Amino acid sequence: MKRLLIIVVFASLAVLSGCDTSPKSPRGFSLPEGDPKVGQAVFVELQCNACHQIPGVEQLQSAVGEPQISVKLGGKVSKIKTYGELVTSVINPSHRLVKGYPADKIQSDGESKMRNYNDMMTVRQLIDLVAFLQSKYDLLIYDPTRYRSYKL
Ligand code: HEC
Repeated sequence: MKRLLIIVVFASLAVLSGCDTSPKSPRGFSLPEGDPKVGQAVFVELQCNACHQIPGVEQLQSAVGEPQISVKLGGKVSKIKTYGELVTSVINPSHRLVKGYPADKIQSDGESKMRNYNDMMTVRQLIDLVAFLQSKYDLLIYDPTRYRSYKL
């Protein structure tokens, strides 16, 4: 039994370290510093606010008759949003679809309904956008329950 456990542990370690050496591993990924202010201007210029609500930017109204998509960005999160996740959401949105919305609102046939910007967005715009998005997320600090001691 113990031996089996050791084998399982080593097998999972091998799988985990295997992921890290794959050509698709995020290891070594690093973005230069972006400017959140410029990022906000890019957000409006590229009309990200046609489909997104984010604190500090007004959402564009959809054309009459068109159903409005409204996916919230920013706000309180229990896990930090890494820039790897944000870059992926922008340039490869179908990789991981956001949770908590009715499926037909955000995707069709597993493809995100987000507009594809890959042929028109500059790398500089992407870097600044990510800096802007990241500045809008607040990490919730885990607040452990306090136990009071009652005097009898
Ligand atoms: C035509 C509508 C539309 C436009 C325009 C659009 N998006 Fe989206 N976006 C979506 C939808 C729908 C989702 C949810 C599905 C998904 O996860 O891809 C989404 C998801 C995202 C997410 C992931 C959210 C999360 O909590 O995981 C980010 C980040 C994002 N969009 C950023 C942007 C940025 C930046 C722009 C402008 C460059 C933009 N979007 C423009 C529709 C849009």
